Amino acid sequence: MKSIPLCIGLDVGTSSLKVVAVNPHGVVIASGQAEYEFESPRPGWAETNPEVWWHCACAALRQLMALPCVAAGEVTAIGLTGQMHSLVLVDADDQSTGPALMWNDQRTAAVCDRAVGELTAERIWQLTGNQMLCGFTAPKLLWLRDHKPDQLRRARRLMLPKDFIRLRLTGAFHTDVSDASGTLLLDCGHRRWSTEMCEALAIDASLLPEVFESPTITSRIHASGAAATGLPIGTPVCAGAGDQAAQAVGTGIVNEGSVGCTIGTSGVIFATTNSWRPTPRGVLHSFCHAIPDRWHLMGVTLCAGGSLQWWRDTMCGDLVARARDRGVDPYELIIAEASQAPAGCDGVSFLPYLSGERTPHADSSARGVFLGISNRTTRAHLTRAILEGVTCSLAEVFALVGTSGAPADRVRLSGGGARSAFWRQMLTDALGIPSAIVTQPHGAAYGAALLAGVGVGIWNSVDDATASIAETDHTSVGSGARAFPHIAARYESAYRSLAPWFKAAQATEAHPD
Ligand code: XUL
Repeated sequence: MKSIPLCIGLDVGTSSLKVVAVNPHGVVIASGQAEYEFESPRPGWAETNPEVWWHCACAALRQLMALPCVAAGEVTAIGLTGQMHSLVLVDADDQSTGPALMWNDQRTAAVCDRAVGELTAERIWQLTGNQMLCGFTAPKLLWLRDHKPDQLRRARRLMLPKDFIRLRLTGAFHTDVSDASGTLLLDCGHRRWSTEMCEALAIDASLLPEVFESPTITSRIHASGAAATGLPIGTPVCAGAGDQAAQAVGTGIVNEGSVGCTIGTSGVIFATTNSWRPTPRGVLHSFCHAIPDRWHLMGVTLCAGGSLQWWRDTMCGDLVARARDRGVDPYELIIAEASQAPAGCDGVSFLPYLSGERTPHADSSARGVFLGISNRTTRAHLTRAILEGVTCSLAEVFALVGTSGAPADRVRLSGGGARSAFWRQMLTDALGIPSAIVTQPHGAAYGAALLAGVGVGIWNSVDDATASIAETDHTSVGSGARAFPHIAARYESAYRSLAPWFKAAQATEAHPD
């Protein structure tokens, strides 16, 4: 039988690790995943032992490689992707010096304020095109210097989650420009580390990995990586991409003018650009894309699908149990209940700031809020308020993208949230433009596999690899659009009113160390 080259994509997500095997027609022929949880030892903190990711990578890859449709001899290249910004430090023996501090961790607020005070926001923006945000990687290093100096002293290498998996698979110490952008240590315009930024923050630049364009093959699976995963020794591994850039590749958001909206744990509006376009004060992230000579603008709602997940886990036990009995996804029942409540939820608003917020309000002190509850309010109202709150946040980000030189007349929705037709219609109405989803649902892992395929020449370019990504489930703006300006105005004024309260509440939180 003729052997068919396969590309494997691996995504180190927030709550699960996903793998896919993709054939040269761009078809996913096998997939798998392993789930985990992150720790939140204090409000606003988020951390994971990176060995958990490696353990899950081994389990998911071994399962994939055991499938009859995935012959080891056909595995031609591997692409890695993963959550951005999360900091992993390893010592001289390649062991992590402590838990990974994750992208949604907000503990660095005071460190950011101090750094911005010393350097000025203007200088940080000049060097990186971005603002210093709590979740980014650089402030995490500064926090460790203040609070866990021993962990930093023992560190020899800094890596992002996918790069830690690469280290275990290949022994190489590499990253790519799109993921490196989220460290705040990259000169995104020139696509190279910013020695000036490292010097300004007194960060040892020798900690940083070598940085490559995403499709470049940079290393190969070594013997212990092969033994742990079942991948063939010597398989090429490409530099890969941060999960949002890989998601954009996997959903075909690759050309100027294309805009994606992804609802996973976080919610992201992502617009590809042909040039580097930092926005004033870095209100949107202006990062390198996973495609050479392309960049992107991005804004993030930190707790989008994450808000609904919290609601499912804390308040919807009965629906989760019913869903289990019926063999359906609990979110189907949860959203069906929400659809019983009227648009606007009879005056209830929800602010989805469970982990603070990033765009447009870079505010680590913000917290989740329900407002406007009356004795008419039911769980359906509250659930719908969560969907409307997340939608309003994404609509705010989308409006910023439009005014920052990347207007769109249609949007591709993706991620778990886009599986719901009800939420898709709500988003379409709120953004005020038609939407569609793509036929394959594997997002970032799929994008990583395509990048690997470009690296080994299965496709000539990322444009080539993504050309056949097909759309489905087109949604047009509907009558719900009429209600949105009112819902959005109530949502926006709620944050404005509460911002001083959030700050005051944060100042009174106890911080033992
Ligand atoms: C992007 C971001 C998140 C993480 C986790 O800037 O912080 O989307 O990458 O998915």
